[in-house]
Amino acid sequence: MGAHLKVLSIVGARPQFVKLAPVAKGLTEAGHEHIIVHTGQHYDERMSGIFFADLSIPAPDIHLGVGSGTHGVQTGAMLASLDAVLDEHRPDWVLVYGDTNSTLAGAVSAVKLHLRVAHLEAGLRSFNRAMPEEINRILTDHAADLLLAPTQVALGHLTREGLADRAVVVGDVMTDVCYVVRDAVVAAGQVNPGEFLVATIHRAENTDDPARLASIILALQELPLPVRLLAHPRLIARCHEFGVELDRGSLQSSEPMAYPEIVAAVLGSRGVVTDSGGLQKEAFLLGRTCTTLRRETEWVETLADDWNVLNADLINLAESVTRSTPTEPRATPYGDGHAADLVVKTLSEWH
Ligand code: UD1
Repeated sequence: MGAHLKVLSIVGARPQFVKLAPVAKGLTEAGHEHIIVHTGQHYDERMSGIFFADLSIPAPDIHLGVGSGTHGVQTGAMLASLDAVLDEHRPDWVLVYGDTNSTLAGAVSAVKLHLRVAHLEAGLRSFNRAMPEEINRILTDHAADLLLAPTQVALGHLTREGLADRAVVVGDVMTDVCYVVRDAVVAAGQVNPGEFLVATIHRAENTDDPARLASIILALQELPLPVRLLAHPRLIARCHEFGVELDRGSLQSSEPMAYPEIVAAVLGSRGVVTDSGGLQKEAFLLGRTCTTLRRETEWVETLADDWNVLNADLINLAESVTRSTPTEPRATPYGDGHAADLVVKTLSEWH
């Protein structure tokens, strides 16, 4: 039996709300006190509020409202606000999620106040130091007291960095959510199968260079089947700035989707084209092929049997996205959908 805990979660960006959902549920069910701090990194309704509503996450207790900015401005604004919040609540654990600027700010503020920090989704590495997320991951893992790793591969990275004695493999909490939502949308008849692709593009390396962005959009427009592109506000902003038109040829853009909508769309689709980490994994979990427009992936397990292929140079993209779905059974490297229970148990038993 573990102790009664006061846990303070810090979230701010879309994928963190998805990870928060099962953890918040698990903490509440176990009778722990849970305080949710939203940094305000994402603020549009379809990037934030809709996730709290659809995934039944309690409304944030504290909202910092930092908004967008350069990395330093955004991270600095979070740090400036977090000290007072953390000092007021003095939780047993500060829980940070994933690899965004909100993750890094939360970890740095907490560790300097001598509060225990747990990092959920610890140990992921792309080995690409040009990615802001890679820097956030490394710094957060080294600052944190408890490293909740999703996979054995992640534990291996932490071990090589000398962090094994602070690390525990708990599985992947996004898998918990993905399976629950999959079952709900299937039961509700929300899956409409068709010959189309689901696409997302939002990484700085793909959106911030005009030539790179134009070549990706053109390649998607020339694909031989309809491409439903769920456009992140960052992508829309860059397309306006660089004069790139989205809706031509095969490409049909729409607003970012709510989580159940995206799960239903992937289940109905022929496959996925993306640079998102979460969507690569969701395609794998939902049994759809994924083509990733990057040179590397943190979720290397998805590459098994070509469920996911890396294609940063857009080589033979049409063949890549229409390849047949592997027939071999998939391994289950991301756990069985009960990672959040292990997160809660580990937090209450860790000394
Ligand atoms: C952030 C994370 C990234 C994660 C992604 C998920 C960092 C460094 N990056 O990237 O790891 O995969 O979230 O979506 O933390 N914007 C809006 N409305 C919003 C949010 C953003 O219009 O609600 C626009 C703004 O123009 C902003 C831009 O999107 O400048 C980028 O937002 P930001 O939070 O800085 O980074 P993301 O690209 O979303």
